[in-house]
Amino acid sequence: MTKHLTNKVAYITGGSKGIGFGIAQTLLAAGMKVAISSRSPEAAEKAAKQLSADDNNILAIGSDVSSLVSESAAIKAVTDRFGQLDVLVANAGVGHFAPIETLSEADWKSTIDTNLTGVFNSVKASIEPLKQTKGYIITIASLAGTNFFANGAAYNASKFGLVGFSQAIMLDLRQHGIKVTTIMPGSVATYFNDHTPSDADAWKIQPEDIGQLVFDLLNMHPRTLPSKVEVRPAMPKS
Ligand SMILES: NC(=O)c1ccc[n+]([C@@H]2O[C@H](COP(=O)([O-])OP(=O)(O)OC[C@H]3O[C@@H](n4cnc5c(N)ncnc54)[C@H](OP(=O)(O)O)[C@@H]3O)[C@@H](O)[C@H]2O)c1
Repeated sequence: MTKHLTNKVAYITGGSKGIGFGIAQTLLAAGMKVAISSRSPEAAEKAAKQLSADDNNILAIGSDVSSLVSESAAIKAVTDRFGQLDVLVANAGVGHFAPIETLSEADWKSTIDTNLTGVFNSVKASIEPLKQTKGYIITIASLAGTNFFANGAAYNASKFGLVGFSQAIMLDLRQHGIKVTTIMPGSVATYFNDHTPSDADAWKIQPEDIGQLVFDLLNMHPRTLPSKVEVRPAMPKS
């Protein structure tokens, strides 16, 4: 990547709200063309309209990251529309929190299929176009990928797995000039796990702060790669 992001193309999975939406705002402001996805085409379309009035720089995609077929179609839609892919932000994720006795098989599968296999699918579908642009993959993991907690069996497993996956593919793909960074946020003010952001979330990281972090990574000198970034509220509530 160069310092000049104008007209570079990013695909952000789960960009209809929360962290993905914040990253989309930042990259659009930097002059990039941005595609966002959601499982709901209507939600993606609504968010795209909020993000930009200019159809030339925004694309809304309905895709479920848990399907490789769906993610392959999404990447094809991005390259058909914008001609290239420079940045994949594998952000889509869900949280199901329960003790192992009551954690359902459906919630376990949904968490792993979205947070871990979903990133595998988005990455697999992006590798060829990213080789052409010597692009960048950013995965959104979590501090739950290094700190475990009660009720976190599914979420911890998905994010610990994602951190390992991201670090391994970083070693594979830098051989091809593709950078990989995994961002591991603490609490961010989003809609995660049916939360509704409010003034009480002022102490948390805000989505646009993660957008700024992505922007800074994309502007890092080509010879340098921060491969794993932990980011947390500077002044935690308690
Ligand atoms: N909020 C935090 O404190 C925090 C901290 C650390 C890490 N994270 C991580 O940050 C990422 C984004 O979460 P968020 O906090 O921004 O949550 P959010 O506000 O709930 O947004 C999640 C986004 O992912 C999409 N999504 C969920 N499942 C999907 C799927 N199978 N296919 C495609 N899109 C899907 C959602 O859209 P639809 O529901 O319409 O599909 C939405 O756009 C997640 O990976 C999460 O684990 C969050």
